[in-house]
Amino acid sequence: MYYLCLDCVTARNLELISNINNPRSNHSLYGVLNNTCTPMGARLLRTNTLQPLSDVTTINMRLDAVEELIRHEETFFAIRTALKPFQDIDHLITALIQVPKKPSVKHAEQSINNVIILKHTLNLIKLLKESFTGVQNSLLDAIYSLLTDLRLESFEERINDVINEDITYAKSPLALRNQRCYAVKAGFNGLLDVARQTYKETVDDLNEMIDQYREQYQLPIKTQFSSAAGFYLSINIDQLEDKQLPLTFINVKKKRKILTFTTLEVMKKNIKISDSLTEVYLMSDKTIEDLISEIRSGICVLYKASESIAMLDMLTSFAHQCTVSNHVRPEFTDTLAIRAGRNPMRENLYVDTFVPNDTYASSATNFQLITGPNMSGKSTYLRQIALMSIMSQIGSYVPAEYASFRMVNQLFTRICNDDNIESNASTFVVEMRETAYILQNVTDDSLVIIDELGRGTSTHDGLGITYAICEELLKTKAFIFFATHFHELTRSLTVYPNVVNLHLEVEIEEEDSRVAMKYLYRVKDGRNDDEHYGLKFGQIVGLPEDIIRKASEVSYKLKELIDSNKEKSNSNKIIQRRKTLLQLTQHLLQIRRSSNLDKDELRRYLKMVQEEFITKMEALL
Ligand SMILES: Nc1ncnc2c1ncn2[C@@H]1O[C@H](COP(=O)(O)OP(=O)(O)OP(=O)(O)O)[C@@H](O)[C@H]1O
Ligand SMILES: [Mg+2]
Repeated sequence: MYYLCLDCVTARNLELISNINNPRSNHSLYGVLNNTCTPMGARLLRTNTLQPLSDVTTINMRLDAVEELIRHEETFFAIRTALKPFQDIDHLITALIQVPKKPSVKHAEQSINNVIILKHTLNLIKLLKESFTGVQNSLLDAIYSLLTDLRLESFEERINDVINEDITYAKSPLALRNQRCYAVKAGFNGLLDVARQTYKETVDDLNEMIDQYREQYQLPIKTQFSSAAGFYLSINIDQLEDKQLPLTFINVKKKRKILTFTTLEVMKKNIKISDSLTEVYLMSDKTIEDLISEIRSGICVLYKASESIAMLDMLTSFAHQCTVSNHVRPEFTDTLAIRAGRNPMRENLYVDTFVPNDTYASSATNFQLITGPNMSGKSTYLRQIALMSIMSQIGSYVPAEYASFRMVNQLFTRICNDDNIESNASTFVVEMRETAYILQNVTDDSLVIIDELGRGTSTHDGLGITYAICEELLKTKAFIFFATHFHELTRSLTVYPNVVNLHLEVEIEEEDSRVAMKYLYRVKDGRNDDEHYGLKFGQIVGLPEDIIRKASEVSYKLKELIDSNKEKSNSNKIIQRRKTLLQLTQHLLQIRRSSNLDKDELRRYLKMVQEEFITKMEALL
């Protein structure tokens, strides 16, 4: 398998393509990453976001190219500048390969347009090739060689045989109409030259006529053009200076301060111009069709050029992202290790205040339970891991100081989005359906993100089901990040050596009877010592004191009951000690496998690991 499998629920929950709250907003992963200059590049990025790669060689090839682009700033800017004027080449290809059932003037006109756009595109490809200076990279070389295909040059030669050399693509409708009219070289068809002459003369007559209007009525009339209406006239109301518009001017329309109008003569001329143009298009059609059918037979080369431009655009877009924010090149190893990782969709919103967090998961610590009060940043942290994995597997740099990923083949998420009215299923049913899907399909190289489970049913059933699901997931070697409000899980699941408890730090500030909670958004090892955040929260939002008092009594009593049962057994500590030992072994193995520290640094690092281990063991005696 070469792709990372994502289901549509995951794509929706992680807001890969569209924002859940506001479908019009482009605050999605695709929206954040999209710095492409061409429609082809944007489409490629979109498909890649939904279907990242899972082949390390290809990903590294992309990353090498991005690194090379970042290193050669001048080339990078030159390429981006050269990419900007490109039209949608795929669109052009679709238009070129269509053969009409019946010839029509409209099609003839469109065909000339297509040839002009193709000429323009070939010219832009030439300019793009010139911007590739000084880069040495296999992927960029491959792109360059696809753009240097000799068949592209032969297209250009053929076009130059038929089309006037100074014909270029123009944006304004009038200029483009003129380009179409004079596209085919003189001499292909005698009648074509006559029709063109009529066109030119009629346009000149019309301009002369409008000059006369200006003189006769002493008004600064402007000539306007639109593809639908042809030529028409306009004037700013202020310039009329209380005068009435003469009656010769008909079809008067007012748009803000501008009056538009025409005359019978102008309308007649428009018809004559249009007739002569129809002649021109029909006369040009045979020549143009011959040219297009020749191009059609070799169109595959244009497909390849379009694909390589899309890839180049996507890679420069990734490189651009690194220049505007601080991203690093990800590595691929057998551990997930991120230093100071940031959520790609949040870091731009909270530029100075976003708190970066570390992540570490290996085969010995593949199940991570995350707890923390409401609003402490659990969901943000979980999404950050999933989004960064996706980014790394499409060949993009990631927002962190250092990042190493284990290649993910399948990404599963179960994220709580309470509103699911369309599917007519209750919260609990949706939750269980999604979880069943995960359990059926999870493999050892999956990444599983579960943000709360078992909320939609009674506490005991919820806890029971969640515990059973965790045990099932623990049988795999998948990396699992599990956020939960069930603190009981953080105790009961610790019998498994590969379970790690994490929590999000908060500080409670109590002054007299006022309580304030300060969110630090920092992920810390272990579970929260104070679990009664719910009660504190209740106090902060102003629940009556009586209720808080009663709630505290019940909550503390229940906790005491559970704790007294636990402390009776010493087995917990034995399990903890074994677990610490196992983690140390894994840690040392990993250092041996993939550390590239020099001797002194390695010694210092090992000493630190040793001290940490001793402290942990002492606490468990
Ligand atoms: N690392 C961070 N740095 C800065 N702000 C953060 C960070 N993480 C989260 N936040 C802020 O905290 C808010 C709540 O975060 P989030 O939804 O992740 O909390 P939660 O723990 O999942 O809450 P709940 O338990 O209610 O689902 C976010 O909208 C964001 O404003
Ligand atoms: Mg949450």
